Amino acid sequence: MVFHADGSTRLMLNRSLFLSNANSAGPSAFGPRGLPIVGNILDVKRLVDETKFYSHAWCRLADIYGPIVGLKLGIAEPLIIVSGKDAVIEMMSRPQFDGRPNGFVHRLRTGGERRGVLFTDGDVWRDQRRFALRTLKEFGFGNGTMEDIILNDAVSLTTTIESLSKSGPITNLYNITSIAVLNSLWTLVAGARFDLENPKLTEILSVVNGIIRNSNVTGGILTHMPFLRYIIPGLTGFTVLNQRLTRMWQFIGSEIARHKQTRTHGEFRDFIDVYLAEMETKQSSSTISSFDEEQLISVVKDLFSAGVETTNNTIGFIITYLIVKQDVQRKVHEEIDRVLGKDLLPRIVYKNRLPYLNATIAEVTRLANVGPTSIPHRAMTDSILLGYEIKKNYSLLANLRSVHMDEQHWGDPKVFRPERFINDEGEFVEDPWLIPFGLGHRKCLGETLARNSVFLFVACLLQKFQFVLPPGHPDLFLDGVDGFTIAPPDISVVAIKRI
Ligand code: HEM
Repeated sequence: MVFHADGSTRLMLNRSLFLSNANSAGPSAFGPRGLPIVGNILDVKRLVDETKFYSHAWCRLADIYGPIVGLKLGIAEPLIIVSGKDAVIEMMSRPQFDGRPNGFVHRLRTGGERRGVLFTDGDVWRDQRRFALRTLKEFGFGNGTMEDIILNDAVSLTTTIESLSKSGPITNLYNITSIAVLNSLWTLVAGARFDLENPKLTEILSVVNGIIRNSNVTGGILTHMPFLRYIIPGLTGFTVLNQRLTRMWQFIGSEIARHKQTRTHGEFRDFIDVYLAEMETKQSSSTISSFDEEQLISVVKDLFSAGVETTNNTIGFIITYLIVKQDVQRKVHEEIDRVLGKDLLPRIVYKNRLPYLNATIAEVTRLANVGPTSIPHRAMTDSILLGYEIKKNYSLLANLRSVHMDEQHWGDPKVFRPERFINDEGEFVEDPWLIPFGLGHRKCLGETLARNSVFLFVACLLQKFQFVLPPGHPDLFLDGVDGFTIAPPDISVVAIKRI
């Protein structure tokens, strides 16, 4: 197995940095040893400063230590980075690793207790996840089908872009797309559809994005040293995070109150209505149930936190890559023109007839690695993973990027080549090494919604526009911007109307 996700010249430099103190302590006999109290916080910081991305740092560590690397970050339980396809599949498919960490920040997100889907485990997680999956799958409320809702926002988005582009290059394209993505999710969850210019949408978006952009998968300093919030609440980010979380909690809470006042028994307008009905059914039976209003707020919050940035960043990266690779954009345009022409709206039924578009989406997904790792898992029992001892409560991160950039499998992983997903018959073929939504029981809950949204938004945008850079625009850094998810770079875009 080869994990050469980064250049190997810099690797030699770091090898000495880590091997000098490796294998003598830490969570087990693997990975760098670290210092008392802070553990490996400084090692990781140094590597992230150098590589600019947490996920690149994880790949660098895998190059040095192999598929299982143990880190100690402050007083939190050790964090195990799992890299390479075999190790990632093994970890993600074993139920004893289906837990989630129970740190201070994880509880803070959901009103101080473990609630919702993202950071719960055991019965609460199983019940809430099953309900959310079923409700999203059977979706078809008063507002129409999931596809109709997304298409509605995709078409409104093209109208907004058309009018903005009349005054020159668009400087904040990804803010505009994210408002449309948020709106479609909001319609699914809470029924009300906003006008894309509505300030309420911008406010929700800035709160959701603020929470996500200022965090990373390790949980950050408040997870590693939660006591610091009493000493330096401003510097640790606690004050701002708490304000944003409270705002989001109030916002969803008031939406639920509105639903309770306006709902009609037996009629379901959206996700919140279905949840309220489930709550009543469960509460009227004598069984103990985890369905209550605080859970509902937490689940809704989870859907927004996990769904908006990931989907929008994927759409943003697709546009960005196509701006740079105009030849690929041209081929996508030709295919859309041939299959849909000017008049047919892109719909899911046409998806199979657009293999090159599907291949382009897959290739950008592989290279951009918007979610480069899983969300942290937690070992529920002591166990052994590929010969390494993993103690109960250790956290584990599956390094998805290491699979997407594996040289032995992809051959030229750094090259943007949608054709790798096209067979000799010209059909789109999935590759089991592309796992952007993870695997196993904790696999992404919104996969279908995300796939539909990305396809419909991108197809609508490319049917209408050619995207190019304005003259004199600096070269694009396609690696993007690091955070809990990876965001596309900020750019100005000229949207040239095609039809
Ligand atoms: C392109 C967009 C998306 C990508 C790349 C993505 C990727 C992922 C990944 C990698 C995980 C972690 C799996 C693990 O920890 O093992 C995850 C979990 C999750 N995702 Fe997504 N996701 C996307 C969109 C969405 C959407 C639209 C929603 C819902 C509206 C959603 C809801 C969730 C939830 C609730 C979880 C946690 C599941 C659990 O803990 O059981 N995601 N996603």
